[in-house]
Amino acid sequence: MKSKKVTIVTGAASGIGRATAIFLAKRGHQVVCTDLPATKLGELQELTGGICIEADVRIEFEVDALIKGTVDKYGRIDGMVNCAGIEENFVDARDMTLEVFENTMRTNITGSFLVARAAGRVMVPQGSGSIVLIGSILSTVGYGGNAAYTASKGAVLQLGKALAVDWSKFGVRVNVIGPGPVATPMSKASLEDPVKSVWLRDRTPMGRPAQPNEVASACAFLLSDDASYITGTYLPVDGGWLAL
Ligand SMILES: NC(=O)c1ccc[n+]([C@@H]2O[C@H](COP(=O)([O-])OP(=O)(O)OC[C@H]3O[C@@H](n4cnc5c(N)ncnc54)[C@H](O)[C@@H]3O)[C@@H](O)[C@H]2O)c1
Repeated sequence: MKSKKVTIVTGAASGIGRATAIFLAKRGHQVVCTDLPATKLGELQELTGGICIEADVRIEFEVDALIKGTVDKYGRIDGMVNCAGIEENFVDARDMTLEVFENTMRTNITGSFLVARAAGRVMVPQGSGSIVLIGSILSTVGYGGNAAYTASKGAVLQLGKALAVDWSKFGVRVNVIGPGPVATPMSKASLEDPVKSVWLRDRTPMGRPAQPNEVASACAFLLSDDASYITGTYLPVDGGWLAL
């Protein structure tokens, strides 16, 4: 019998990460869920049949401990999906504090680096693996009042390409997904705002936000052997946003 793929999902306590962890478990992955301490990780143990390890993606030793805990338990890592991310309140760059800018970069791009680096240190010697970084449509286009987030997501796209160039020859594929608006706690305020929600709907050719599962299924595809020749790509899951 083929053994289960061992896959870590960060940001697993909420939104896209939660949906991805559950989706992958249903598809036969051995899932390791991780998120910040004090998040709702506990219930995922039951929902996914996997283990949960708390880790802050901004903190090097916590990310390294996550990887060690996974390898100690399962002996390998086949997949890594980095969903952990933040988007602070929308504000013009002139009023954005350095603290907000740096925390956004620390979480979204430094976190992506730490997570991918730690996974790569296992996957490269293993000779196989697939890493999916969650970028955004804002990896490639601008958006008002969102300089830190947009800059961080642009960097995530370039990080994914750089790692794909470095590691594909060792059997490790790296890809970036670019979601458009997704109905999660992160986008709740925008999607419930009477003006912004109408604008977002009109701006999206499909006329609605994605459900988290619609991003999860794209992650599952990129992790799967069906994507065996796909690396260094950017896959928008955006209801047509970037086509407009
Ligand atoms: N929701 C959207 O519209 C949308 C659109 C494009 C991209 N994205 C991206 O998708 C990813 C998931 O977002 P979501 O919508 O599910 O948001 P969410 O807020 O529902 O979930 C994000 C999760 O990341 C965790 N997290 C935050 N900082 C962390 C840290 N330092 N260490 C570990 N975990 C941390 C949070 O605790 C939370 O559980 C993010 O990278 C986000 O930027 C979301």
